[in-house]
Amino acid sequence: MTEPAPIRARIHAITWEAEGILSYEFRDPAGGELPPFTAGSHIDLNLPNGMVRSYSLNNPQGERHRYVVAVQKDRASRGGSTWVHDKLRVGDIIVISAPRNNFVLNETAASTVLVAGGIGVTPLWCMMQRLSALGKPFTLYYCARTRKDAAFREVIEAASSNPGATVVFNYDGEPGGKLLDMAGVVAKSAPDAHFYCCGPLPMLEAFETATKDLPRDNVHVEYFTAKDAPAAEGGFTVVLAKSGKSFTIEPGKTILETLLDAGLPVPSSCLEGVCGTCETKVLEGVPDHRDVVLTESERKASKTMMICCSGSKSDKLVLDL
Ligand code: FES
Repeated sequence: MTEPAPIRARIHAITWEAEGILSYEFRDPAGGELPPFTAGSHIDLNLPNGMVRSYSLNNPQGERHRYVVAVQKDRASRGGSTWVHDKLRVGDIIVISAPRNNFVLNETAASTVLVAGGIGVTPLWCMMQRLSALGKPFTLYYCARTRKDAAFREVIEAASSNPGATVVFNYDGEPGGKLLDMAGVVAKSAPDAHFYCCGPLPMLEAFETATKDLPRDNVHVEYFTAKDAPAAEGGFTVVLAKSGKSFTIEPGKTILETLLDAGLPVPSSCLEGVCGTCETKVLEGVPDHRDVVLTESERKASKTMMICCSGSKSDKLVLDL
């Protein structure tokens, strides 16, 4: 695995976007260009308190002078979003990762449906800008509790008048409001549409249920958090093909933890199968996938796995490390 080099970036601006949501604009301190990205990408922030947190980029994908992410202060925060809101200031320099895309937009689709829940709008706002730039038709369903909770509401409203754009706001916490009818969304969309969803877990589950009979390649989901607990049953062997080293994975440990304990410099970030940083090629064996990065067909093919959370169904796994 060759990881792109981390980037030192300066916080150039912090902007209030909605109740409890701030956006952070990062630039190269020397004024240079940043690596390119595509809609749906995220970056990892290496926070000075040692935490690593992933956030989706929401600025237009052609921009090379900045990355913009939006961060919601989460009441159930494990420390990441609270730290970002309370400590990061304009002018601070932190280390970020190069962009990585686990939520790729199919730019050739005849029709696209974007379903956003709360802060999950960030990658979809980026996709909406891309589709508008390409002149492609799409519908965005943007769900939030109330309009004051909806980040980027004004810019999205303004962009909804672009040719081919349809935007439907759904505020379930306002008088008369209710949850989005996900089955209704699918039923009224073109049969060959590509569907994308990013939002809280109950919304993603409703989306997966509503789209279960559609071709798998047309359904795209971005999770913020893990769906399944990491595989910590242990009791199998991992062989690293490049060095020939072999490790027994003990109960209570993941593959990643075992390799890090042995002093091997394996890239990782979220540690819960969400970001894709630890994706590793599988040369032999059957992984027990627990991540939310791989698609169903990628899971079946098992050419790669996320070693931070996935285990093994076979007695031995051979990894391309
Ligand atoms: S470290 Fe994020 S998927 Fe493994």
